[in-house]
Amino acid sequence: MRISVFGTGYVGLVQGTVLAEVGHDVLCVDVDAKKVEGLKAGRIPIYEPGLEDMVKKNHAEGRLNFTTDAAEGVAHGRIQFIAVGTPPDEDGSADLRYVLTVAATIARHMTEPKVVVNKSTVPVGTADKVRARLAEELAARGSTLGFDVVSNPEFLKEGAAVADCMRPDRIVIGTTSPEAEELLREVYAPFGRNHDKLIVMDVRSAELTKYAANCMLATKISFMNEMANLAERLGADIEAVRQGIGSDSRIGYHFIYPGAGYGGSCFPKDVKALIATAREVGFEPQVLQAVEDRNDAQKSVIFDKIVRHYGGDLAGRTFALWGLAFKPQTDDMREAASRVVMEALWAAGASVQAFDPEAMEETERLYGDRPELTLCGTKEAALKGADALIVITEWQAFRAPDFDLIRDRLKAPVIFDGRNLYDPGRMARKGFAYYAIGRGLGEPPAGSAAAAAESSAA
Ligand SMILES: NC(=O)c1ccc[n+]([C@@H]2O[C@H](COP(=O)([O-])OP(=O)(O)OC[C@H]3O[C@@H](n4cnc5c(N)ncnc54)[C@H](O)[C@@H]3O)[C@@H](O)[C@H]2O)c1
Repeated sequence: MRISVFGTGYVGLVQGTVLAEVGHDVLCVDVDAKKVEGLKAGRIPIYEPGLEDMVKKNHAEGRLNFTTDAAEGVAHGRIQFIAVGTPPDEDGSADLRYVLTVAATIARHMTEPKVVVNKSTVPVGTADKVRARLAEELAARGSTLGFDVVSNPEFLKEGAAVADCMRPDRIVIGTTSPEAEELLREVYAPFGRNHDKLIVMDVRSAELTKYAANCMLATKISFMNEMANLAERLGADIEAVRQGIGSDSRIGYHFIYPGAGYGGSCFPKDVKALIATAREVGFEPQVLQAVEDRNDAQKSVIFDKIVRHYGGDLAGRTFALWGLAFKPQTDDMREAASRVVMEALWAAGASVQAFDPEAMEETERLYGDRPELTLCGTKEAALKGADALIVITEWQAFRAPDFDLIRDRLKAPVIFDGRNLYDPGRMARKGFAYYAIGRGLGEPPAGSAAAAAESSAA
């Protein structure tokens, strides 16, 4: 089937590539000429495991092409996927500018009926707005061409996007049109050979399903962070608690890891957007607001522990930082906890020596050349002469480091672990002052600068 995809970001590029991989003829359209030229030349703008080879193979075999020419894009497919960004507006609501621009573009160029499929995460009611924009543009052309607007939210996870799209848990289709449903069944048939993955519902329910899924996951994380903060104050170990509750099949082990707060392009923006949507209909979303507030505060928890350890004296200190991406297996730094920690350290007069396996270019793009940030080629290089190590992203490469080397390279054996990667008992035996999340560290370990400061004050 011939398919057009507008937007070649994490969603559009991955989904377009996967659709080509199963045999569809896909044309990806983007307004970013540099990105499109790069893709044609085999340069992949994002890091996703398995993506590069799949893009190159399908492009070489002619099933996956790229263009900036919107007219060509509209002419290509009966199905037109919209996968452009929906960033937060000033009040937190989703900014629909890009989605509606694509809708207008489709209407301006179409010469046959189209099925417009919205993959971007959009508030309930957006399909109506897309429909209105299409109708308005067609009327302006004096055209009576027909169209359908379908909601097909995307559930891929960055870092596992290709695998998620190749083997989706479910494919949600929001439509009441039998023809549109039939067409999407054909598009997605290759992904449901094991069992039918399609869940068909009305458009508004499909739009809300995407927000409800992300908000549920964000709620689990914020709930667990709240328990972790409580555990610290009660002398309990959140890791024991996590296993204790995860073993209950009604709760499960997924998304109950305490940490330095959730980030990325989706959870923060989608929680905010659903809060805005709720308020627009006169409903106060108390749970969602608490989820957001807890997360905002959680991003500062590691910095607060650093301040406390050094008795507030951070000026002139240097910190090794492992992990810049908002989570492992991606180079995405949107709303990453690392940014909150780094920016707070800089504001306090400290500098950072940072390493991330994939997000170094992105860090350079975001922060440029500045004296308070040194980008290091290896995790070991980042340690050299630093006052302490801060771990923010749980990359595999950080899970079993050489602690003797860490101790040798740092000025003092101090680790602030925002992802609970190490065992506190082992860290203590190795002589580290070790701060994690929710692991009974209400008091600074004996021998730390904070402990010394406290005892001299007493
Ligand atoms: N990133 C994720 O993990 C993820 C997962 C599920 C859903 N989503 C949702 O999918 C949508 C896209 O997210 P993303 O992360 O892929 O965004 P992104 O910012 O990575 O990519 C968006 C792309 O759209 C292009 N674009 C903008 N206007 C255009 C236009 N008029 N025509 C053609 N291209 C245009 C941009 O140049 C950019 O390349 C968002 O609504 C997001 O919430 C994202």
